[in-house]
Amino acid sequence: MIENDIEKVFFSKEDLNTMVTRLGKQISKDYEGKNLTLVSILKGSVIFMADLMRAIDIPCEIDFMCVSSYGSGTTSSGNVKIIKDLDIDLHGKDLLLVEDILDSGMTLSYVRNMLEQRHPASIRICTLLDKPERRKADISADYFGDLVPDEFVVGYGLDYDEKYRNLPYIGVLKREIYE
Ligand code: IMP
Ligand code: MG
Repeated sequence: MIENDIEKVFFSKEDLNTMVTRLGKQISKDYEGKNLTLVSILKGSVIFMADLMRAIDIPCEIDFMCVSSYGSGTTSSGNVKIIKDLDIDLHGKDLLLVEDILDSGMTLSYVRNMLEQRHPASIRICTLLDKPERRKADISADYFGDLVPDEFVVGYGLDYDEKYRNLPYIGVLKREIYE
């Protein structure tokens, strides 16, 4: 059972539901009358994205981008690879990048710079979790669910070595798993 590899629960299902509901309400209010396009940064944001889009009650489009910057360690390489690009034309769109966790910020800063060159009307960032202690790039979230300290967390889409994404809550991984 994947649960056995978890040291402690960090955000329960209920905590996550509360966070996502709040974010959905705020985004619906802020983007009223705009061309909201949610851009899910795969794979980590898959569950957050699925819940967030249902917590938004204004018209919106969605698209997906798959990037990788990690390998199998627990720190970002900063070496971002685009594995799947967006399909849609971004002219005039109000993009909201949906990410699982903002850590060093290298991934989102690379993605944002790349998308800015395609002339969207605006770009903002919505991350479920923010780990500001480890920030390296000059980037911050416009919307975030909650802050996390410098601990490695998994579940609700977040992985360690591609595993634990299916855990329905967010927990701290036992150190012995990755050390
Ligand atoms: P950044 O480029 O360092 O900001 O890394 C962002 C990506 O690293 C996220 O999208 C996650 O995939 C991954 N990441 C960072 N911290 C964690 C963590 O605590 N658990 C799982 N994945 C993480
Ligand atoms: Mg990841």
